[in-house]
Amino acid sequence: MVKAVVAGAAGGIGQPLSLLLKASPYIDHLSLYDVVNTPGVATDLSHISSVAKIDGFLPKDDGLKKALTGADIVVIPAGIPRKPGMTRDDLFKINAGIVKGLIEGIAETCPDAYILVISNPVNSTVPIAAEVLKKAGKFNPQKLFGVTTLDVVRAETFVAELSGEKDPAKTVIPVIGGHSGETIVPLFSLAKPSVKIPEDKLDALTKRVQFGGDEVVAAKDGAGSATLSMAYAGFRFAEKLLKAAKGESGIVEPTFVYLPGVPGGDAIAKETGLEYFSVPVELGKKGAEKAHNIIGQANEYEKKLLKACYEGLGGNISKGVEFVANPP
Ligand code: NAI
Repeated sequence: MVKAVVAGAAGGIGQPLSLLLKASPYIDHLSLYDVVNTPGVATDLSHISSVAKIDGFLPKDDGLKKALTGADIVVIPAGIPRKPGMTRDDLFKINAGIVKGLIEGIAETCPDAYILVISNPVNSTVPIAAEVLKKAGKFNPQKLFGVTTLDVVRAETFVAELSGEKDPAKTVIPVIGGHSGETIVPLFSLAKPSVKIPEDKLDALTKRVQFGGDEVVAAKDGAGSATLSMAYAGFRFAEKLLKAAKGESGIVEPTFVYLPGVPGGDAIAKETGLEYFSVPVELGKKGAEKAHNIIGQANEYEKKLLKACYEGLGGNISKGVEFVANPP
């Protein structure tokens, strides 16, 4: 029996993500939690003839606790999204508190669950989650993941537009670092199978992966940020993790983790000078079973991108840690 929970389930990401999870054969029970609308979303999804049983909870009557009880995996897309002109960091004030509250609930009710953080800024909300769990004495770094899969999905898509590959997801492109602007570092030189990016297209392609979210924010013109592509990406990561937990081997996906707590992560922490970083991680029953250090394989162009990444990411991480240590 696998129980999954979506926290923020009535939102732009939450609804399509819940739909995809409801249809997954890897989930037996899906609980939806949000501060609004979950009874409606859950009732709607309950008419789908898939395996998972579904229920929805609001904060009243201890709803968070009820949703989280017995959870094996909790996916968190709760919080406000960006409007035009906003950076992910601008979301910090509101989303930091939302994530903190939800993680406190997880620490109390289902500390053994895999926790997938989608809420932005991921570079800070994952350290917040870790600090809250540490405080509660419940931190298992192998089970805490910042979801950066959308950056990978975008890289696959944009590269296929250039290469003409019919099935974009067939090319594996590691995207490492963090999840905002220049902290996102696509390593096209390590694509498998290899791809040839024309030199005059490389800067634009790199920027497009780093700032792809802005394209959506601008096109939605005030109505929010990426929701459908994010739901797809979040689902892809969640399902890969569930497959790995069931015993399928060889599943590797980039994800933002606490390096000192993941096998293989110490060397990466030393090299980057950062405790949190997204690298390709081998997934398994324990969660993040091995962090792959591919930084040394980056070419000179990518090394420059990494330098800018380290500079930005350090501050984002400290901001998250500080938020829990000295609450505002
Ligand atoms: P949305 O505003 O459509 O939905 C957010 C949902 O969270 C709402 O239904 C709201 O009621 C709910 N919520 C607020 N406070 C809550 C609480 N305390 N507990 C439970 N639910 C709560 O926003 P959208 O577009 O779904 O985005 C959600 C988050 O995901 C944003 O922070 C956004 O920046 C982030 N995001 C992350 C991406 C990534 O790649 N990791 C990509 C795109 C967005």
